[in-house]
Amino acid sequence: MSESNPSDDIRWSSRWLFVLAAAGSAVGLGNIWKFPYVAGENGGGAFVLIYLVCVGLVGAPIMMAEIALGREGRSSPITTMTKLAASAGRNSQWSIIGWMGVIAGVMILSFYAVIAGWALKYIGVLASDEFKNAGAEVVESTFNGLLASPVEMILWQTVFMVGTIWIVARGVSKGLEKAIRWFMPLLFVMLIVLLGYSLRSGGFEQGWQFMFDFKWEDVGPGTWIMALGQAFFTLSLGMGTMMVYGSYVPSEAKIGSTVATIVALDTVVAISAGLVIFPLVFVNNLDVAQGPGLMFVTMPLAFSQLPFGSIFGSVFFLLVSFAAITSAISLTEPAISYLVENYNSKRWRVAVGLGFLCWLLGLGTVFSFNIWADLKPVFGLNFFDLVDQISSNILLPLGGLLIAIFIAWRLPRKTVLGQIEIESERIWTLWKVVTGIVAPASVLVVFLNTFVPFF
Ligand code: PHE
Repeated sequence: MSESNPSDDIRWSSRWLFVLAAAGSAVGLGNIWKFPYVAGENGGGAFVLIYLVCVGLVGAPIMMAEIALGREGRSSPITTMTKLAASAGRNSQWSIIGWMGVIAGVMILSFYAVIAGWALKYIGVLASDEFKNAGAEVVESTFNGLLASPVEMILWQTVFMVGTIWIVARGVSKGLEKAIRWFMPLLFVMLIVLLGYSLRSGGFEQGWQFMFDFKWEDVGPGTWIMALGQAFFTLSLGMGTMMVYGSYVPSEAKIGSTVATIVALDTVVAISAGLVIFPLVFVNNLDVAQGPGLMFVTMPLAFSQLPFGSIFGSVFFLLVSFAAITSAISLTEPAISYLVENYNSKRWRVAVGLGFLCWLLGLGTVFSFNIWADLKPVFGLNFFDLVDQISSNILLPLGGLLIAIFIAWRLPRKTVLGQIEIESERIWTLWKVVTGIVAPASVLVVFLNTFVPFF
């Protein structure tokens, strides 16, 4: 372990900037692209309610735990876990949390860059007026054309990956802090404008019902695991991202209220994205369960009929790309911080190496939509679904489970109290029950329910 710890000199310039950075990590393709399509594939309301329960009961406490551990350790997640376990007299194997996070990060970024590449391409497609007054068939066939072309997908995936690595190599605080200061407010304004449009589209009621009509009979074991995985994914939990961002948090910032703000922002964006997309799906007679292409068909279609649609449309995809890049950066940070701190390597060298690895793995996702479309090696899942499900639905929740157990049962009370502002014995008990029992037990029950038949 190196003597000097890079996290020692990096701090967010204020609590507010940390909130923005963490929200920048949380708000991404997970909210705007994934949430609507996964909800669409899993019956809408049944999924949304369970997702909200997972966010509140499991996500929020685990985010608090991660930030607290990060700020206590002030290093990369692997080193933080090793250090904290040692100082609490626990097994050094707890560092596995950090390692799992590095693997999950590489897997997620591999497909993330491919999808973000689609968004990059669509900035230009919309700006070009190609879709002006076009019908659903034209929009659908453009998207299918993209999916059918590995070369084009690789091109855009590469552009996105190079951009991400370029920012990462320069160091997070300069580039990232600057970008999020104006990006987050813009995203909110854009969502409000689009909500206004979908309100008047004629499909709002149907969209609303689809999202909020909860029926137990629509809930299956798959719903739980997808909702839990989505909660972890969208809040950037279970892989050390919040831990490493937490390691840069000023000591005086309050963790409880900070987490509440981040979770609220993330949830509002996801729900708004659903309320924008679903009404447009119904009004245009599209298929809600069409999967990953949902956003790339409904949104261009909506813009094609909107005054100044080509401007709005390209701004929308520009914002999606920005949302994606601030998340992509955060996906690399657990691995990068570890490599820089331990091998004294230059940041840019590490960044390029990691980027190349993710890019290479991402080719599997590219091919899942064309030449490998029929290749479904395990559980009938193609390569993309497999990488996505293993990382989002297994590695992240498992990481979160271990984090919750560690902070609640393995760390001295004094250490926890030094990080999380808990003022009374009652609140301490509540914290302990939620973080130490409810959150891990929920993950465990969902795992058993999914992987052990007839549980
Ligand atoms: N939360 C990001 C999104 O919703 C994805 C992400 C997952 C980022 C895990 C970092 C860590 O798009």
